Amino acid sequence: MITLALSKGRIFEETVPLLKAAGIEVLDDPEKSRKLILDTNQPGVRVLVVRATDVPTYVQYGGADMGITGKDTLLEHGSQGLYQPLDLQIAKCRISVAVRADFDYASAVKQGSRLKVATKYVAIAREFFASKGVHVDLIKLYGSMELAPLVGLADAIVDLVSTGNTLKANHLVEVERIMDISSRLVVNQAALKLKQEPIRAIIDAFAGAVGKP
Ligand code: PRP
Repeated sequence: MITLALSKGRIFEETVPLLKAAGIEVLDDPEKSRKLILDTNQPGVRVLVVRATDVPTYVQYGGADMGITGKDTLLEHGSQGLYQPLDLQIAKCRISVAVRADFDYASAVKQGSRLKVATKYVAIAREFFASKGVHVDLIKLYGSMELAPLVGLADAIVDLVSTGNTLKANHLVEVERIMDISSRLVVNQAALKLKQEPIRAIIDAFAGAVGKP
């Protein structure tokens, strides 16, 4: 049995065509079903529906043989013990710094001001501002980061930006692009040795389908 950990939403939706290339069809829709273990048309393959930030943990400890997770999650939560054979080029977005449209970020940085930064990506933000020599007080949030500058909780946020619509709707502007993000295939190292043939077949099918519409 091969167990693949996926999160609901964009990653799941954009993984469906890759699975199809490997001849795998998930039989339930995770948006409609409350089931957490989904069968596929292949008796030897099943899909676990887990929180995006939990995918590396499931794969690392062998709860799943493989998983698909964003580069943001891997950088923030660590990728210890995970084999990362492929950038799947799905769920593409970027991680950026954004501020209120009326906040002069460039001057604040130039003057060496201490910035209050709200984010769920504390490790990525710490590393980024340290590399720029900007002093920051990081405020950990778990979602809706865009609110923080609006109510005076923070001067800036570090968050994922895809279309930019969420920033726009909240009168925020992107002032720095920290890095581009996409999702990666991660594989449990022991599983790769023990179930080499079926895992390699899936990796190869995914590799052949990457970047194709
Ligand atoms: C992400 C991110 C932004 C939004 C950006 O949130 O945190 O809020 O998407 O997308 P856009 O640029 O296309 O508007 P998501 O919906 O993934 O939920 P989250 O707040 O739980 O991360």
